[in-house]
Amino acid sequence: MLIRITLAVHDSVLGKRLQDLLARPDILVQVPRARKNLWERIVSEPSDVLIISQSLLPTPLKEKMGELQLHPDSPAAVVLSESADYKVHARLLAEGCDAVLYAGLAVEQVRDVIETLLEKRRRLTQKRFFAPQPLAEPRLADFVSKSPGMAVFMNVVPRVVGSDTALLIEGETGVGKERLACAIHAEGPRSTGRFVALNCGALPEHLLESELFGHVRGAFTGATAARRGWFEIAHRGTLFLDEVGEIPLHLQVKLLRVLQEHEVQPIGSEKSFGVDVRVIAASNRPLEPEVEAGRFRRDLYHRLSVVTVTVPPLRERGDDIPVLVDRHIRYIAREIGRRVTGVNPLAMQALCRYPWPGNVRELNNVLERAILLCDDTEITLDDLPESVGGTVAGVVGAGPALDSAQRLRLPEQWLAKPLREVREAFVTDLERQYIAGLLTATSGRIGEAAKRAGLQERSLYEKMKEFGLRKEDFRSPHQSKT
Ligand SMILES: Nc1ncnc2c1ncn2[C@@H]1O[C@H](COP(=O)(O)OP(=O)(O)OP(=O)(O)O)[C@@H](O)[C@H]1O
Ligand SMILES: [Mg+2]
Repeated sequence: MLIRITLAVHDSVLGKRLQDLLARPDILVQVPRARKNLWERIVSEPSDVLIISQSLLPTPLKEKMGELQLHPDSPAAVVLSESADYKVHARLLAEGCDAVLYAGLAVEQVRDVIETLLEKRRRLTQKRFFAPQPLAEPRLADFVSKSPGMAVFMNVVPRVVGSDTALLIEGETGVGKERLACAIHAEGPRSTGRFVALNCGALPEHLLESELFGHVRGAFTGATAARRGWFEIAHRGTLFLDEVGEIPLHLQVKLLRVLQEHEVQPIGSEKSFGVDVRVIAASNRPLEPEVEAGRFRRDLYHRLSVVTVTVPPLRERGDDIPVLVDRHIRYIAREIGRRVTGVNPLAMQALCRYPWPGNVRELNNVLERAILLCDDTEITLDDLPESVGGTVAGVVGAGPALDSAQRLRLPEQWLAKPLREVREAFVTDLERQYIAGLLTATSGRIGEAAKRAGLQERSLYEKMKEFGLRKEDFRSPHQSKT
């Protein structure tokens, strides 16, 4: 993040020298020009450190210093005192100033004190924004996959991690575009800066501009205080622009300028300042047609899509489902303290068959719900929503099931039938479930399944045909597709 220092120094020569000494790429020095309403201006500007001459301090000081504590950034206040009297210094500290320095000190000594304050500030920002999240932290390893569609982009991604190459991530909703962007940030050299995600489609036009670039006080009606834009906050980090295709054309021009010149001009400000931000953009519909239709600027598109990767939908990477399921169950179970360890074969079969229109997000939600419902250590079909679990129930039939207490639960409609029919239906269902279970256990290896069942391979095939079961549907993700 860019650190803002507000410099309100009475002695203009000292002010200028400090300004020169502090000027650095990650510091923005702001000097309020007019003395009128100085304090009001100071408290309405974003600021990390305030350096102020004692003669410019407001009164009553203690109360006014309290206002600074209410400021969203709670800036540290350094007072340059014209007095060398330690009693005066003690009083200023008692009234809430963070540091008091004699203005007659060599300017380098003043700088050293401010340096230390800034370092503390940087660490504070780090702590505030980087509270450890070891369990949830996105990693590139989350995207390692056996599916060819994923392999294509996983070949590219590690190469762009270490560079600032503009990256455009395309893919349906919920495939993990933001997670991927965050993983790229976390594993690259920018990980000490912030990862900021902004959904460009979720904000009205005028707000989006101010969110991106910030604004000064009074820039528009209602702008009672200045605000930092996300470009400034993401300085030395990564800015993830989600739904980038939703940015209106006139803002696209502004965005392009920032990307080309690495400079941001907040709304209402006459000055711009430098920012060092890596931009990763994402869109859940392909951007190229938007360019063709004239809704997205071609120059911006080229700027954003130096490298483009497409994350395939989950239905095209069914082989990855067991791994994703396993990982997410372990994560959630630990997070909420449940003893669920996995998914039983039938439930896994259902999870692998379902087309997942909401992709990984939907899968994770279904698993979270199942873990909450599950009162055993394994998730069963009963714990899955009907839309998902029904996929296998349809194949296996609405036959009896063992509930968690291992009691046989008969479908209601069976109680209205004669015993002979029930017996037949029961046996058929049992056979169907047995064979489905056997195929799951043997990962669809017919020879082994037939041997275990004491059947000829041909008889097993016939039974499978009768029940609509296909060996391909039981393959484990590690098996080749031959
Ligand atoms: N490979 C993965 N491993 C674990 N969790 C994942 C993976 N991919 C996505 N997720 C999870 O799925 C959810 C959706 O991911 P994300 O928000 O990154 O999707 P998206 O593509 O940005 O979706 P949208 O287009 O709707 O914004 C998140 O909770 C994310 O953590
Ligand atoms: Mg997203």
